[in-house]
Amino acid sequence: MSVNMTQRKKVTLGQLRKRYQENEPLVMLTCYDATFAYLEDEAGVDILLVGDSLGQTIQGHTSTLPVQIEDMVYHTQCVARGNTNAFILADMSFGSYLVSEDEAVANAVKLMKAGANMVKLEGGAPVLPIVRRLTQMGIPVCAHLGFTPQSLNLFGGYFVQGKTEISASELKSAALDMQEAGAAMVLFEMVPASVATEITQLLSVPTIGIGAGPNCSGQVLVLQDILGIYPGRSPKFSKNFMKDSSSIQEAVSAYVHAVKSRVFPTMENSF
Ligand code: KIV
Repeated sequence: MSVNMTQRKKVTLGQLRKRYQENEPLVMLTCYDATFAYLEDEAGVDILLVGDSLGQTIQGHTSTLPVQIEDMVYHTQCVARGNTNAFILADMSFGSYLVSEDEAVANAVKLMKAGANMVKLEGGAPVLPIVRRLTQMGIPVCAHLGFTPQSLNLFGGYFVQGKTEISASELKSAALDMQEAGAAMVLFEMVPASVATEITQLLSVPTIGIGAGPNCSGQVLVLQDILGIYPGRSPKFSKNFMKDSSSIQEAVSAYVHAVKSRVFPTMENSF
């Protein structure tokens, strides 16, 4: 066991809250299997996100929509087996929390039994009762706002959300409502940096940004993007950390260091 592993403490929600209060940036990275769970944990990633982006990165689909809750359970189990200390956040897949509150609870329970410490779900007002109920039942929730990939068909493409005064104000209300309903974390995807900054200052729970500027409480990226191995053009908000690294371990460590020292993201990676 390396020195890093022996010194690292188990990352709990309490630990994350403490770091947030002490203004220490939180580092999140997607993770889908045991090997990378071990590697990311060793590199000091705080939160392993078992994202439904596995629909694209692992399963080869063109969106997250085909992903099943059973897929999320399987990958959460794999990540949990490889992980020792990091906090595990698992995505609720498309359709797994839309049909009824009871079904949402049953599916969230499956993810927690698989090893998740928190579940993430996308959307605003319609999911508020689910966020409230899960929280009341002892399941911590991260609310995903802004560009929500499961609503790709409604958005009609990968567009930045919250650009107009009205939509920015709606985003602000949605975040406050999520916090009031019990969300322990709010993730913003593709939101103007100024809007994410203002909402982060308003909330008393940590915010995590992806294409949401440098002032969120933490940052998340997709593993394949930071390694520069996802086919095609990489998104503006991402960065290939493999370019200046001689190994995958070094690239993941460089990402951790860049977020912790607030070197990443810059306004160049923002909207
Ligand atoms: O599934 C995922 O990877 C995500 C990130 C884009 C935040 O939800």
